[in-house]
Amino acid sequence: MNVLVTGGAGFVGSHLVERLVSLGDTVAVVDDLSTGKLENLDAVRDRIAFEEIDVTSFWDLNRAAIGADVIVHCAARLGVEAVLNDPTAQFENVQGIQNVLSVAERQGCKVLFTSTSSVYGCQTPPYREDMSLVLRPDRMSSYSCAKLMGEYLAQSFNDVRQVPTCIVRLFNMSGPRAATSGPYSFVLQRFVKAALEGSDLVVYGDGSQTRSFTYVKDGARSLERLLHCPEAFDGRPINIGSSEEISILHLARQVRSITGSSSQIVFKPYREVHPNFTDYQRRQPDCGRLANLISYRPTTGLEGIVRMTAESLERQKETA
Ligand SMILES: NC(=O)c1ccc[n+]([C@@H]2O[C@H](COP(=O)([O-])OP(=O)(O)OC[C@H]3O[C@@H](n4cnc5c(N)ncnc54)[C@H](O)[C@@H]3O)[C@@H](O)[C@H]2O)c1
Repeated sequence: MNVLVTGGAGFVGSHLVERLVSLGDTVAVVDDLSTGKLENLDAVRDRIAFEEIDVTSFWDLNRAAIGADVIVHCAARLGVEAVLNDPTAQFENVQGIQNVLSVAERQGCKVLFTSTSSVYGCQTPPYREDMSLVLRPDRMSSYSCAKLMGEYLAQSFNDVRQVPTCIVRLFNMSGPRAATSGPYSFVLQRFVKAALEGSDLVVYGDGSQTRSFTYVKDGARSLERLLHCPEAFDGRPINIGSSEEISILHLARQVRSITGSSSQIVFKPYREVHPNFTDYQRRQPDCGRLANLISYRPTTGLEGIVRMTAESLERQKETA
């Protein structure tokens, strides 16, 4: 299969690229390297085509997509800084998915769009793909709104423009290469890094908020298997995550114990992290649709994710 991965030099994209290359697919990557790094592709660099392209540039993207069977769209501006401090970043995210879908229509290829668990907002878990969505009326929701707009566009191109689209809602991917800073998405990496350095593990709020973590290589394996599953390209969302729900305080304790760290766990009120920051209390997917489509079972639980993350951070330190 010929696959074009946008944002393929990022965290999730680079793991998917590695998996596709290892299975013999022909892979091209486009990325503007705004947060992604070419080093993330070191293991496959000589076996892929790479172009530094901004997906909001339609004709550059169109050229890169010639010959593709499918475009996997991972490129997006995410993280608290992009969401709260860059007023147009989320509009660019909508522009990006619109370009990908229009290019796919011209090139006659399929699209897999990476949406997010954030679209569930303050709904009560477990989250089912067909449930109504409830978003807070604050600026933090702009990322979820942009992803939702992307989902509606993908659904429309699927239904009326004959572009088969697969929409996945990813839940907290974790593991090697994830960013270790930033207050919102990457708490597990932040804790592991602090534990290895012997610095404080800072829990925002009281730590009762829960998340479910997915090993990024399990996430990449599901994405790859969905690419080969025609029923997944029906323009309707699919959750990819883990049903193992854990409170952030418990996570901090687990990280400390697994890494054998003597770091202290300290608490910080949200208003001190960011005045406009509001957190969601729970995140837990119902992965029934994914299981039906690809018989998916995660291979790596929380302890494994923490260990792999710690090992990769240690390796990075040695090579720095
Ligand atoms: N990591 C998670 O837990 C998670 C959860 C939910 C959804 N997602 C979605 O999965 C996708 C990948 O996330 P990630 O964690 O790998 O993030 P990431 O920031 O590591 O990867 C995004 C990549 O896109 C590139 N990029 C950004 N804007 C671009 C543009 N306009 N043109 C070209 N390249 C651009 C960046 O340089 C980066 O390499 C994103 O769409 C994100 O919204 C991720």
